[in-house]
Amino acid sequence: MNTPIQVGLLGIGTVGRGTFEVLRRNREEIRRRAGREIRIAKVADLDVERARRIVGDGAEVVADARALIEDPALDIVVELIGGTGIAKTLVLEAIAAGKHVVTANKALLAVHGTEIFAAARAQGVIVAFEGAVAGGIPIIKALREGLTANRIEWVAGIINGTTNFILSEMRARGLDFGAALADAQAHGYAEADPTFDIEGIDAAHKVTLMSAIAFGIPVQFDKAYVEGIGGLQAADIRYAEQLGYRIKLLGITKRRDDLKAARGGGAGGIELRVHPTLVPSQRLVANVEGAMNAVVVHGDAVGTTLYYGKGAGSEPTASAVIADLVDIARLASAEAHHRVPQLAFQPGALADTPVLPIADVVTSFYLRLVVADKAGVLARITGILAEAEISIDAVLQRPSAGGADSKGQAGGEGRSDLIILTHDTVEARMQRALAQMQSLPTVLAPIVRIRKEELS
Ligand code: HSE
Repeated sequence: MNTPIQVGLLGIGTVGRGTFEVLRRNREEIRRRAGREIRIAKVADLDVERARRIVGDGAEVVADARALIEDPALDIVVELIGGTGIAKTLVLEAIAAGKHVVTANKALLAVHGTEIFAAARAQGVIVAFEGAVAGGIPIIKALREGLTANRIEWVAGIINGTTNFILSEMRARGLDFGAALADAQAHGYAEADPTFDIEGIDAAHKVTLMSAIAFGIPVQFDKAYVEGIGGLQAADIRYAEQLGYRIKLLGITKRRDDLKAARGGGAGGIELRVHPTLVPSQRLVANVEGAMNAVVVHGDAVGTTLYYGKGAGSEPTASAVIADLVDIARLASAEAHHRVPQLAFQPGALADTPVLPIADVVTSFYLRLVVADKAGVLARITGILAEAEISIDAVLQRPSAGGADSKGQAGGEGRSDLIILTHDTVEARMQRALAQMQSLPTVLAPIVRIRKEELS
C-alpha cells in the first residue's frame, strides 16, 4: 500500500465534522478503495477549542488557514468555509501552492469558476466539487463520467432542499408561504437568513455548474435567470393540483439546437434558469417531497435518468467530499492530461454556445387571472392569446377566493379565477400577451404566471 495522502481541512463546521467522522469510521473500507489511506492531518478553524473537541488527537488544529496552505506536507486542501470572500482567496492560494482542492462551495465555483479552474489547470492540480451540487447525490460524477457517451439534451433538478420542504408543506398542509418558511426554520432547514434558498440563488449556483458539465461551456452564473418561491400563493398550488400538476422549484438547463437555423447555422443556445415550475404529478420528480433533492438528466443514448437523495447535511455532503478525496488519491500521480477533465470536456474543447436570455426561452405556462365574471371576458383573453399564436391546453374557471385587488374592487362576488394552461411558446411572446391582458379593465388583479415543464 502507498503512503497516506495528507489532507488539510479549512473549516470544521457541519460538513467538516461529517467528513472527519466518516473518514474515521470507514477508514479501512476507503483505504481499500483508494489504494492508500486518506488522512486529515491538519484542521484550520477560528474556533480552535471546538475543532479540538471534534478531532481529538486525530489531527493538528490551527487557527491560521495560511499555516495549513503553506504546509508542504499536505497534498490536498478541503475548503469548507463557504461564500465567495476569504474562501476564494484561500482556494487560489492553495492552488498556487500546488495543492489539489476539494470544495463544496457552489457559490464560489458558479461565480468564480472560470478563474479558479484556469488557475488549477496552470498549476496541474485538481479542483473537485461533487459536494457543491445536490449534496450526497453523485450527480457531478454521473454527468461527467457515467453519461459521457451521451449528448445531454437537458437537466432539471430539485436542488434546494429548503424550498422543496416549504413547497411540500404548502401543498400537503395548505400553508401559506410565510407559515411554511417558519416551519422550515423550526426544522433547521432554512437559515435565519434564507435569502439564497428562497430567491433561487442557491439552486442557480448549482444548475450553473451542471450546465457547464452537461454542455461543455464555461460556468456563467451571471447569465442564469433566477426566480424564487417568495411570491407563490397557496391558491396556485391548489389549482395546479386540480389540473394534475405540482409546483417545484426547478433548476433547468437545456440545449436549444432549434435556434441554429434561426441564427443562420450558428451555435444554437443553452437555457439556464431557476423558477417555480408546474410538473405533471405523475412524474417521479414531482413526488420528491420534503428536503430531498432529485435531478433528472436526459441524454440521447440513455434516455431519461433520475438521481435522488439527500441534498444537504453533514454526512451526505461528507460522502461527496470523500468521494472527491478518493478520486484525487487515485489520480494525483497521473499526468494532468490523463485525468478526467474538471468540467467533463477537455479544456480546449469548451464551446462558446451562448446562454439564452429569458425572452428566448421556450416553455409552457400556467396563468391565473382574476376577472370580472361577465359575458365576453373569456373571449377577449383567449383572443389575445390567439393573436400572439399561443395555443391553449386547458382552461379552468372557479369563483374567486376573494380579497382586495389591485384595481380597488372588493373581492368575492362577480369575480372569477380563470386558470389557463398553455402549450409551449417563446417567453417574449407571452410577456407581450400578458401586458395586453393585464391592461383589460375586466382583469382585476396582477396576473399570476408560472412556467410549466412536461419533462417528457
Ligand atoms: N441550503 C441548501 C438547501 C443546502 O436547502 O438545499 C446547501 O446547498
